[in-house]
Amino acid sequence: MEDLTYTSESQRQYDYMAQMKQWVSKQSEKMGRPLTCHITTFGCQMNAKDSEKLLGILQQMGYVETEEETADFVLFNTCTVRENANLKVYGHLGHLKKIKQKNPHMLIGLCGCMMQEDLVVQKIKESYKFVDIIFGTHNIFKLAELMKNRVDSNGMIVDIWKDTDQIVEDLPSERKFSFKCGVNIMYGCNNFCSYCIVPYVRGRERSRNPEDIINEIKALVADGVVEVMLLGQNVNSYGKTLEEPITFAQLLQRIEKIEGLERIRFMTPHPKDLSDELIDVLAASQKICNHVHLPVQSGSTEILKKMNRRYTKEQYLDLVERIRAKVPEVSFTTDIIVGFPGETEEDFLETMDVVKKVNYDSCYTFIYSKRTGTPAAVMPDEVPEEVIKDRFNRLLQVVGEASKKNVDRYVGRTMNVLVEMVNDHDENLVTGRLTNNVLVHFPGCREMIGKIVPVVLKEAKGFYYLGELAE
Ligand code: 5AD
Ligand code: SF4
Repeated sequence: MEDLTYTSESQRQYDYMAQMKQWVSKQSEKMGRPLTCHITTFGCQMNAKDSEKLLGILQQMGYVETEEETADFVLFNTCTVRENANLKVYGHLGHLKKIKQKNPHMLIGLCGCMMQEDLVVQKIKESYKFVDIIFGTHNIFKLAELMKNRVDSNGMIVDIWKDTDQIVEDLPSERKFSFKCGVNIMYGCNNFCSYCIVPYVRGRERSRNPEDIINEIKALVADGVVEVMLLGQNVNSYGKTLEEPITFAQLLQRIEKIEGLERIRFMTPHPKDLSDELIDVLAASQKICNHVHLPVQSGSTEILKKMNRRYTKEQYLDLVERIRAKVPEVSFTTDIIVGFPGETEEDFLETMDVVKKVNYDSCYTFIYSKRTGTPAAVMPDEVPEEVIKDRFNRLLQVVGEASKKNVDRYVGRTMNVLVEMVNDHDENLVTGRLTNNVLVHFPGCREMIGKIVPVVLKEAKGFYYLGELAE
């Protein structure tokens, strides 16, 4: 039954795409040139993946992608995980207003996490009336339908869903890279870490069927993809809500068997649910990359409790040890929040201690940002800004030293690199990644893009290596 509903919804959307295609073609005849589109993506990999789907739909309608934010259709895929992300969107909108005044035919769309917040949508309706369509995280598959509604009417089209249990398969998607691709394995989050707005804007956890995931990856591999990044807010709880439950580790084992697929990455695992079964699968795998992004958020058990992370400092460190014992060459990266309400100097020193003990390859460090509606937003003892800044700088120092030491450790070795692009600064060099996600630059040519080649790592430069193709 379920499959039928999926098919009919995607069919409905293909019909809207066809109708919009006629509209786009008429418009471009009038203008004497193709209609262009541009998507600006804020935030995480999940949003990047959504943007690939949105671009796929736009291309199906006949739009041609452009780098310019002056396109005929401009879409902002927004993020709201920290206040800064929101401010950036308003900045861009201010700029777009002037462009639209000169080009009144232009269409502007807003979607993504920020649009799931009532106050944001209210503000846009009042102060940014030139916006044409607004939708959220649960209904991106409706882009063509919403655009059709917009061109058939005159007002702003707003369609935000509070939550959904629907997963619409089989829609177009346009990959940014020919050789690697993100693959959603689940949507939403049920963890409710006390600082985090994600569970409110991305809804409840729901997993895709393993068959749909495997078929998507097989099709990607047939189309030249060698590396997939499995995406979910908490991949360790993959499969729990399926009619026939399976674990994330079992899913990985099935994906491993796909012929032609060379590398498997995943993000993000929550430390509280990382199972021994998964560690064994990581250890036995030939394809899963030697990299675990394991967000710690804080090293203080007291703060972790207030964050509702559901592990202690000791449990986290023990987990790292257990992974290292079975996967000795593994690289760890992490996310850390500085200045959570009530964080004392002692709490902060616990975080510094974890950073020193784990020896991360790199850390994504964030200053705590209050998100209205989350439990942490009303917690007492906010940390003063100067104290946060001082802690943040001290943390960066320690993180930088640890990364440098870690990245140095492979100098002289020959390792496989997946070549991603011609180097931004020097066209005689190409840039690729080791299995542990560290970048390598070495002399090469465009034809190498998408290939995995052995490279001698000659020199470590802090966050990357300079190398040479092995003989
Ligand atoms: N303030 C600061 N950082 C946050 N993150 C999530 N919510 C907040 C917030 N309110 C960080 C966490 C998470 C990463 C994606 O963003 O570290 O792992
Ligand atoms: Fe946010 Fe925690 Fe869910 Fe990650 S696991 S998205 S930090 S609530």
